[in-house]
Formats: sequence, C-alpha cells, structure tokens
Amino acid sequence: MKMDHQRHRLGRLAVLAATAGLFACSAPVAAPEPTLNSIQSETVGQTLSTQGGVVVSSNEIASRVGAQVLAEGGNAVDAAVATGFALAVVHPTAGNIGGGGFMVIRMPDGTATTIDFREKAPLAAHPEMFVDESGEYSRDVQANSHLAVGVPGTVAGFALAHERYGDAPWADLVEPAVALAEGGIVLSEDLSGSLARQVTGPMQRYPASVRAFARADGTPYAEGETWSQPDLARTLQRIMQDGREGFYGGETAMLLVAEMERGGGIITAEDLARYEAQEREPIRGAYRDYGIISMPPPSSGGVALVQMLNILEGFDLKGMGHGSAAHLHHVTEAQRLAFRDRARHLGDTDFVEVPIERLTSKEYATELRSQVDPSRAGVSAVEDITMPGEGTHTTHYSVVDENGIAVAVTYTLEAGYGSNITVEGAGFLLNNEMGDFNPWPGLTTEMGQIGTEANLTRPEQRMLSSMTPTIVERNGELVAVIGSPGGRTIINTVLHLVLNLAEFEMAPDDVVAAPRSHHQWLPDRISIEGSLDDAAVVSALQQMGHEVRVGGVQGSAQSVFVDPLTGQKIGVPDRRGGDAGAAVSR
Ligand code: DON
Repeated sequence: MKMDHQRHRLGRLAVLAATAGLFACSAPVAAPEPTLNSIQSETVGQTLSTQGGVVVSSNEIASRVGAQVLAEGGNAVDAAVATGFALAVVHPTAGNIGGGGFMVIRMPDGTATTIDFREKAPLAAHPEMFVDESGEYSRDVQANSHLAVGVPGTVAGFALAHERYGDAPWADLVEPAVALAEGGIVLSEDLSGSLARQVTGPMQRYPASVRAFARADGTPYAEGETWSQPDLARTLQRIMQDGREGFYGGETAMLLVAEMERGGGIITAEDLARYEAQEREPIRGAYRDYGIISMPPPSSGGVALVQMLNILEGFDLKGMGHGSAAHLHHVTEAQRLAFRDRARHLGDTDFVEVPIERLTSKEYATELRSQVDPSRAGVSAVEDITMPGEGTHTTHYSVVDENGIAVAVTYTLEAGYGSNITVEGAGFLLNNEMGDFNPWPGLTTEMGQIGTEANLTRPEQRMLSSMTPTIVERNGELVAVIGSPGGRTIINTVLHLVLNLAEFEMAPDDVVAAPRSHHQWLPDRISIEGSLDDAAVVSALQQMGHEVRVGGVQGSAQSVFVDPLTGQKIGVPDRRGGDAGAAVSR
C-alpha cells in the first residue's frame, strides 16, 4: 500500500526574495548571499547535532540550501528537492537534472514510500543497439556517446515527490539553485580540481561542455574563482516557473532533442513527454530489532541488502570482532551470494519478473547460509556472471526534519559528469546511464560483461541500478538515514553501515568512518579500504582462499542518525567526500 497522498503541512516556507522573472530578461541580478555561494571551512566535514532538522550532502552549500528550506517551515521532502536542485549546480559530477535516481521517504508514523525517477531507455532502443561501424558491440558506444543517454528522470521525480508529499511552494525550492547558477559559486579546491581534469580530458570532445565548465578562453578555472552557469540558470528558471513541463516540454525539451540530433542520439520529444516517475512500495527487511526500508527494483540495492543482512543475522559477527578476518570473510560470503542472485534475477519489474519475495525471505537466507564455509572462501564459478565496470560518481544525501520525516536520496549521472555531454544552450549534463544495461543478449564474459535477460535494453525499460537509499528503524523508531555512491559497492557500503550500527553498536561518527569492504561475485576478490591496513587480517583471508586488495576508499555516505530517546538528530558528513557538509535548521 502506498502512503496516503496526504500533505504534511508544517507551515509555509516564507516567500524568498522576489525571483519570478528575475532572469527572464537581462536586468541586473542581485549578487547571491555572500554566505551561500562558497563552502564554509568551519562546517565542512563536521558532525552537527540538533533538535531541529538536518541535511547532509556531498556539498555543504547544497546542505545549507536544504536546511534553509527546513528553517522556513518546509518539510524534509521540500528540503530534499531543494538540496537536489542545488547539487545540480554545485556538485556537477553527480548532482543533476539530466540524470535520475531514487528517493525513500518515511513519515513519523512509520509509513514509507519510494519515488523511482530512474532514467529509462528511449522508445527506439533495442538490445543490440550498442554497435560500432563494423556492427560489433562497443562499450564506448554504450557508455560514451549520445546513445549512452537515458531519458532523464530527476525533474519528474522531484515534481512527483513534491506534489504528493511536499508542503512549500515549488518555486521556492528551485529558486536557490537558480541563484547559485546565475550568481556563481566560489570554487573549492576539490571542485576546481575536478572541473580542470574534466575540461582538459573527456569534455574536449564536446565544445558546449568546455564552454559550460571552463573559462571563456577554454582554460580551467582555479580554486577561489567564481564560476557561474547562465544557461543552467535559465533552464532552472523554466523548471521553477513551469514545473516538470519546464524540463520535459518547451524550450528545454527542444534543446535536448536538438542535442540528440546533433550527436546521433535517439531521445525524442515523445520520449520526454512520456517519461513518468513512479511511486513504488519500499523493500522492507529486518535485522534483529532493526527495520530496513530501502529501494525496490529497478534498483537491486534494497533486495540485495536485505538478502545479505538475512544471511548474516545467523552469525555472531560481533563475537568475531569488527575488522577481523572472520568478520570480513562472512560479510564477503554474503556479498558473493547476493551478487550472484542480483546478476541472475534483477531488472526492471515493469518488464521482467523478479522473485523479490523469495530473495528477501528468511527461509532462502537460511538455505544460502548453509552454503557458507566458516573457514574457506566460496567459489564464484565462471559460468556465472560478471558485470561491467562503473564509475564512482553518484551522490547520496539524507534529510530529517524537525517532525521526524526522513528522506534518503541517491541520484546520479552514472559516471562522473555522466556522458560529458552538455545540452547546448541549456547548460546541463546528460547521463550515460544506458551503460547500466547488459551490453548484448547472451554475451557473458570473464572480462565483465553479462548477457542475462532481466536487464537487457528494451524500449522504455529502466536500467538496473545499485543505488540504495535506505532508512533504518529500531523497534519502529527512526534511527538512521543512509546511502552512498560507488556503483555496485554502494550496496556493500550500506551493508557495512547497517552492521556497524545494528551489530557492532558503534557511535554515529564511527559507523560512517569504519573501513568498508566489497565483493561482487565476480571478479572473485575482496577490496578493502586502505584504512584497514592490517597485514595479519589480509594474510588470514588469503589463507582462507580469498584474493584480497587493500587500498583507496569506498563510497561517500552522507548520513543522519537519530537518537529515538532524545529526538536529537546527528548529521554525519562522510569525510571521504571533499566538500561534504551537514547543515541544521536551528
Ligand atoms: O545506478 C547505478 O547503480 C550506477 N549508475 C551508479 C553509478 C555510481 O554509483 C557511480 N558512482 N559512484
């Protein structure tokens, strides 16, 4: 059952500075609030606690936009929408209006729902479309071309979430993003470095992208310079004025379709007009006295997360000790088994049958648990399935308002900066999400391709995702809002967070900071974050038969925790993310 589409009226957002029409003509534009166009070094990366509302995202400016909406009476859904639009301006690697994602919403009475705004394949798509001139399958075509672009979902998703569960006026939620794009932001070290790599690298293929993300002479911006995005400001203003139509119709749609025609893409005006976000039942699971509320297909995240937790519930991980070889071995084996099922069964349930009930059942977990040898690595047989590599640039943010409405959002362009294609004249990047479809029917290789039916490219099907925005309860009370970027590692990052909280009873900062590991069936290897640099643990795992790689970081989990006894909300930015920050409404 979906939640009643009741509106949670928490007071009106005060009307912000008169903005309607601000950018309609070339009238001079008021400079943005000096405090809102640059990150604040004193709060970046800091844990913040409050009895009010809190937003944690991968960019501290965007978190403050959301917190301001909360301070002015908007609810958590309003804040999530405003934060999402702001991230589209200040966090262009993953924040977007040209991509898609998922939102999980939990009300204080425990009812919950999800909004699916995943991109979908255009009407002209088909399973054998990613070929080069010689007719051979080409990963480059699938992931780095106009054919890589899925029909974007973000604006439809935000509009649906706002229409059903928001409270503040729509325009007030888009306006801060318009102001940031028009007035510009002061570039941080992190963002200036990231833009420089992009404009001197993959964006060289696309002059409109260099124009949008570099100085007028094409050279990269430096830290401390102000970077504005006038074309994006105008697009956001159309969205501010016309809602979803401002993106899927009118000038924005026209510009997007023209971009497709210029670059050999296949998204048409009809594809845009037909795109609809969907409200879907969440996946629910339980780990001891903790409840899990997460994303259903077309994400694989919720199903795999619940499946792994069900397997692990039967082991005494706490007794093994956090970070011990035994702990990591058992987690790895649960990951191996869940990822095998993911590859076999998961896809868009509007098109394929997925045995969700069985995969998430305690009975099936008991069966799988019996396949785990406590002292030997399992085997990932080659006739089973591997999957292609993914980028590491999605973004997750978490919001809890003063009244306890909780919202978890993960959205993405797929790779960092998506396809690197900026819609000429509209200033926003397009995703390369078609790369998440299986490349070719029946083509399963050791090199990382998978050819199973469930996730083949079909007209209007949504490509399978790993994004796992998740809300955690304990004895029916809200205790955490979590999620992460990281492709398939997302599911395992969220798994570690839940275990750190529910099994190891860690403090919020430690839940987020503790080292994470990843295994995805094939390639048959464990990746462990560099912060767990323990030769004895690695050697013990190797003796069990595991291939182990240690190094790097896994994910960026912008999280909120709630103490159900005091109502205190604790916003914990993941320090793995450069500009990440929490912001509170009071
Ligand atoms: O939907 C998915 O699972 C992927 N497109 C997400 C990509 C991703 O997380 C990249 N970055 N971290």
